[in-house]
Amino acid sequence: MYLETKELFLSFTDTHLSPSLHVLELQDVCFTIQKDGAPHHLVDRASLKIPRGHFMAIVGPSGCGKTTLLKTIAGLNAESAGSLWWNGRNLSEEGDLEPWEIGYVPQFSIAYDQLTVDESVETATKLRVKTKNVEDLDHRIDHVLEKTGLATLADRPVNVLSGGQMRRLGLAMELVSDPHLLLCDEVTSGLDPRSERDIVHLLHDLSRKEGRIVLSVTHSLAHLELYDSILVLHEGKVTYHGPPEGLAHYFSVENTELVYPKLAKQGAEKWRLAWLKHNEAYYQKMVQNRDRMVNEGKIELPSLERSQPVENNEEVEPQSDEVEVKAAPIQSPGFFSQFYTLLSRRWRIFFRDRGQVILQLAILLCFPLLVTLFSEKANANMRKFSEATSDRIEAKIKESAAVRQDQLKVGSAVSGMIMFQVVLLSLMGSNNAAREIAGERLILEKEKFGGVRPLAYLASKVTFLTILVLIQSLWMAYFVDFFWPFPEGDGGLARHATFLIMVNAAMTAICLGISSLMRTAEQASLLSVYLVGFQLPLSGAVLALPGHIETFTRPFISAYWAWSGSVKSLSGEHFSAVKTVIETTLSSANICLFVLGIHILVGLLASWIGISRHQWD
Ligand SMILES: Nc1ncnc2c1ncn2[C@@H]1O[C@H](COP(=O)(O)OP(=O)(O)OP(=O)(O)O)[C@@H](O)[C@H]1O
Ligand SMILES: [Mg+2]
Repeated sequence: MYLETKELFLSFTDTHLSPSLHVLELQDVCFTIQKDGAPHHLVDRASLKIPRGHFMAIVGPSGCGKTTLLKTIAGLNAESAGSLWWNGRNLSEEGDLEPWEIGYVPQFSIAYDQLTVDESVETATKLRVKTKNVEDLDHRIDHVLEKTGLATLADRPVNVLSGGQMRRLGLAMELVSDPHLLLCDEVTSGLDPRSERDIVHLLHDLSRKEGRIVLSVTHSLAHLELYDSILVLHEGKVTYHGPPEGLAHYFSVENTELVYPKLAKQGAEKWRLAWLKHNEAYYQKMVQNRDRMVNEGKIELPSLERSQPVENNEEVEPQSDEVEVKAAPIQSPGFFSQFYTLLSRRWRIFFRDRGQVILQLAILLCFPLLVTLFSEKANANMRKFSEATSDRIEAKIKESAAVRQDQLKVGSAVSGMIMFQVVLLSLMGSNNAAREIAGERLILEKEKFGGVRPLAYLASKVTFLTILVLIQSLWMAYFVDFFWPFPEGDGGLARHATFLIMVNAAMTAICLGISSLMRTAEQASLLSVYLVGFQLPLSGAVLALPGHIETFTRPFISAYWAWSGSVKSLSGEHFSAVKTVIETTLSSANICLFVLGIHILVGLLASWIGISRHQWD
C-alpha cells in the first residue's frame, strides 16, 4: 500500500535520515495574475519539500512558469495562495529569509563591464557581508574565486569574459555570503556543451559540501543524472517531481528528450492530477537515494546551525535536543559601509568609462566656451551703455533715444547671457542623471534583493552627482565671468553662481527621479531631454506666455527661477536694462532659491520612491 504523500514528505526530511533543518517546503503555492478580468495561475498549487544538500532541476517548456516559480520561492513574487516554509518557519507570516541566506542568480548579468572579476566579487562581498577585517574580506573573496574556478581570471575585466565565465562570476557574486538556498535561472543556457557540463558540476558540488539547497531552472535536459530531483512544470503545474532516473519511465518515453513533446499531448490539469496519483512511489525512490548518499558520505551536511535574526540578535530556542544552535556567522553590512562601497564603485566605473569621461570633459569645456562666444558683443554694448549713463543728465535727455536703444541692447545681452548659462546647466543636469538609475535598474533590483538599502544607494548617487553639479556650475560661472564680468549687484557673482548650482542641482535631481521611475534608460533620457527642451520657451525670458498659462507653468520651470534670481542679483542699471526687454514679472531672489530648493526636494523624493519600489520586470 502506498504511503500518504505527507508521510513520505516527512520521511524524506526525517531526522533519522539526516536532520534537515534548512528545509524548503511549498504547500499548494499559487501565483495568480488577472488576465482579461479572470484569474490566471502562472504557478498552480505547487507542493514540494526539499531537504538540505539537495540539487533540483526545474524544467519545462518555454513559458511554463519556471522563472515565476523561482521568483515566488525567492520572495520576489508574493504567492497568491498557499504557503512557503523554511526550517519550519512560515515565510509569509514570519518574514522572509535574511538577504544573505539566499542567493539568486538571474539570467541577466549582475556585474559591471568596467570592473574586473576580483573587483566585482569584492563589491558583492562588501555589499552583502559585514567582514571583520581586510584579511577576512580577502579570505572570502579568494575562497569564492577558488570555488568557482575564477582564481586565475581575477584581474580580467568583466567585458572580456566568455559566457561560461560570466555565469561563474554570477554564481561567485552570490556565494560570497554562503547562502543556504541558491536559486539559479538558466545559468547554462547558451553555453557550449563543455561549459554547460562544468557549470552543472559546479552547482552539484555546491549542493554537496555545505548542506546548501540548489535549485536550478534549465531548458536543457542534459546531465539530469547529476540532480537529486527533477521538477517538470507544464503551464504552471507540477507534472513530475522525482529522481532523474524515473523521468523517462514516468512519461513512458524512451529518453528524456521526448518528455516535452509528450507533455503537449494532454492538458496540464490532467498531468497534474496524474502526478498526484503516482507521486508517492517516486518520492520513496528519492528518499532511498538520499539515504544511501548520506550514508555513503556523498552528501556532507555541516554541523547544524540555525539562522538568527541579525538585527536584534534575539536568542532562538533550539527545535530539538539534537540541534546545536550557533549565532549566525553572517551579518549584513551597515548603512555607511554600503554607501561607501557604492560610491567608490561609482567613481571607479566613471573613470574607467572613457566615453563618459570624454563627454563630461567636452561638455565642461565647450558649454562655457559657447557662452563666451557671445560675450564680445555683450561687453561692447555694456561699455557703450556705461559711458552713456555716466554723462550728465541734460546730455542723457538729449541722447535719450540713443540711450534707450543701448538699454535695449544691454538688457537683451545680459538677460541672454544669464539664460544661456542657465539652459546649458539644465542640459548638463539632465545629462548627469537621466540614465543614472534606469541604466542599471536590474542590477539595482538584484542588489536590493541582496540586502542593499535603497537609502544607501540614493545617498551614493546624490553624493556622486553633487560633486559633478558643483564642478560644472562653478566652472561655468567663473569661466564665463573671466570673459564677461558679471554686472555686480547685490551679492553679484556669488549669487549668480548659487543660482547656477541650484538650477543644475534641480534638473539633476528631477532627472534622477525620472530615471528611477522609468522602465528603461531610453524612456528616461527622452523624457529628460523634453524637460530641458521646454525650459527656455516656458521660462518667459524670451517670449511672454499668456498670463493664465504662465501662472500654471511657471512653478515647474526651474530655468525661470534661476534666471529670475540671477537677474535680481544685477546692479541697478543692468537690472533696469533687463526690465526694458522682458514682459514677464521677476520674483525675488529668496523666493527663487526657495522654489529651486523645492524642485530639488521633489526630485529626491521621486528618486527615493522610484528606487524603493520593486521593478524587476
Ligand atoms: N508578472 C507577470 N504578469 C503577467 N504575466 C507574466 C508575469 N510573469 C510571467 N508572466 C507570464 O507567465 C508565463 C510564464 O513565464 P516564465 O517567465 O515564468 O516562463 P519560463 O518557464 O521561465 O519561460 P522561459 O523558459 O522562456 O524562460 C509567461 O507566459 C509570461 O509571459
Ligand atoms: Mg524563464
